[in-house]
Amino acid sequence: MQRGYFITFEGLDGSGKTTQLRRLAASLESEGHKVVTLRQPGGTALGDRIRSILLDSRSEESLGAIAPLAEMALMFADRAQSIHQIILPALDAGAIVLCDRYTDSSEAYQGAGRELGSERILSMHRAVCNNLQPDLTLLLLPSLASSLHRARRRNQRTTQQKGADEGRFEREDDAFYTRIYQAYEAIAAREPERVAAIRDDAGIDQIEARIREIVSARIPASVP
Ligand code: TMP
Repeated sequence: MQRGYFITFEGLDGSGKTTQLRRLAASLESEGHKVVTLRQPGGTALGDRIRSILLDSRSEESLGAIAPLAEMALMFADRAQSIHQIILPALDAGAIVLCDRYTDSSEAYQGAGRELGSERILSMHRAVCNNLQPDLTLLLLPSLASSLHRARRRNQRTTQQKGADEGRFEREDDAFYTRIYQAYEAIAAREPERVAAIRDDAGIDQIEARIREIVSARIPASVP
């Protein structure tokens, strides 16, 4: 069977990646591609449970402080499950997989944000994910100030509207997010072939057009 194509979206909270992922999915589907979307953490039944533990700022009231290494290991448990249950079967079936966050998020948030170091994350990736790499990573890096502002606003809105609290990360301070931002820059510099960084604060429509250009130039003609 023909292999599909694996695209990940990365960026700080509030970078607009989820909106862009939905738009790209719609446009690829309208061109006749089979598209599978998912987010990490989450997307599988196991992953959704892991997500609620990791993201809810009230988790620690009942569980105690989540150790950075436990947080990292749970992110990878989620990832291993979604690779097994969703990503590999979809790629085998020739789909284009669009994944909202992947191991670059662990390198940025746990490796840099929680200061566990990149090497530990990359070796976890080799051990737990068989080193499965995306074919293309779209990294949205609007300015740090605008990302922080959007993340905080979004989190307040989500909590008010749905009662769902996903604020364990958003409550972190600016130094934490600055380390994450710098880690994303370092990943883009280290792997320019895989990572397409979109750096400016252009509007949603312009960024969508840019992403479509990048993706059309990269998807091989053999992908159904
Ligand atoms: P999101 O759904 O808005 O992207 O939020 C997921 C949160 O989880 C976000 O704050 C980043 C964090 N995260 C990590 O810290 N490490 C990871 O490996 C992943 C996938 C997400």
